[in-house]
Amino acid sequence: MPDLAETLSDITARMLAEPERGHVADYIPELAKVSPQHFGITVITADGQEQSAGDAHVPFSIQSVSKVFALVEALQSHGEAVWARVGREPSGSAFNSIVQLEAEGGRPRNPFINAGAIAVTDLIAAGHEPREGIGAILRLVRRLTGDPSITVDGAVAYSEAATGFRNAGLANFMKSFGIIAGPVGNALDVYFHQCAIAMTTRQLARAGRFLMNAGVCPDSGNAIVTPERSRRIAALMLTCGHYDASGDFAFKVGLPAKSGVGGGILAIAPGQASIAVWSPGLSPQGNSLLGTQALEDLSRAMGWNVFQP
Ligand code: DON
Repeated sequence: MPDLAETLSDITARMLAEPERGHVADYIPELAKVSPQHFGITVITADGQEQSAGDAHVPFSIQSVSKVFALVEALQSHGEAVWARVGREPSGSAFNSIVQLEAEGGRPRNPFINAGAIAVTDLIAAGHEPREGIGAILRLVRRLTGDPSITVDGAVAYSEAATGFRNAGLANFMKSFGIIAGPVGNALDVYFHQCAIAMTTRQLARAGRFLMNAGVCPDSGNAIVTPERSRRIAALMLTCGHYDASGDFAFKVGLPAKSGVGGGILAIAPGQASIAVWSPGLSPQGNSLLGTQALEDLSRAMGWNVFQP
């Protein structure tokens, strides 16, 4: 197997020199301020080796990567009842699309499109104040990383809440079908704050370790989820983690992964590695352009691919 540190530094040098970097998300005004020049990557292997290159220490907005942690939290608190609210099928539609909701009784296709994630946060928020819901997700992320300093970027949360008309539309539409049980405002409040959690690639790769490790957090040896749930979450990441580019991502990279419009991607090589990459410029589908390219190069170089174990 090639040397991991060398592989990461080669990939990083190539990505930093790449002229075509995609477009930074600007529909959330605060995210439009981030430079597309950033590139950072961290890999943590199953035997505990950790290697980073580039801007691995710079916090970024994890955005939709948070949907993985929210799903874990909802599965822990509500068990299989989560699946009454959201499906487990790829949507083949944009992350913020409303088109399938009307035809399908208001039940989102999966927990990783915006509508599905808002239905999940409604479950987390049920019977609580919104700050307790976001507190539960933050506690989980801090426990997974062993890092109590991780927090929400208030400016990003405010910026999205002030402009999140489409998410408010999705939430109200689902409420009309009874898919959202609590106050729409509470589910949205938790959702906007979870998306605004700021992490570095080092922190994000640490947070993903339980998914490479059959659900067990390597620090404590405690099960975060059962091996079956860990497999199933990874299956959803593979089939739905990149929205209408999920098929192409599986084709190119072959690993379960979840992207966010902040430019972060968390990818899992089961039994082998937890990988976090960040480059803020996005593809037209809203996934990190160079992050995807870097993961394609890394998975090929290291031979990490769920279709060729
Ligand atoms: O709701 C939104 O639009 C954002 N907070 C999250 C979207 C997102 O990250 C899509 N991912 N690539």
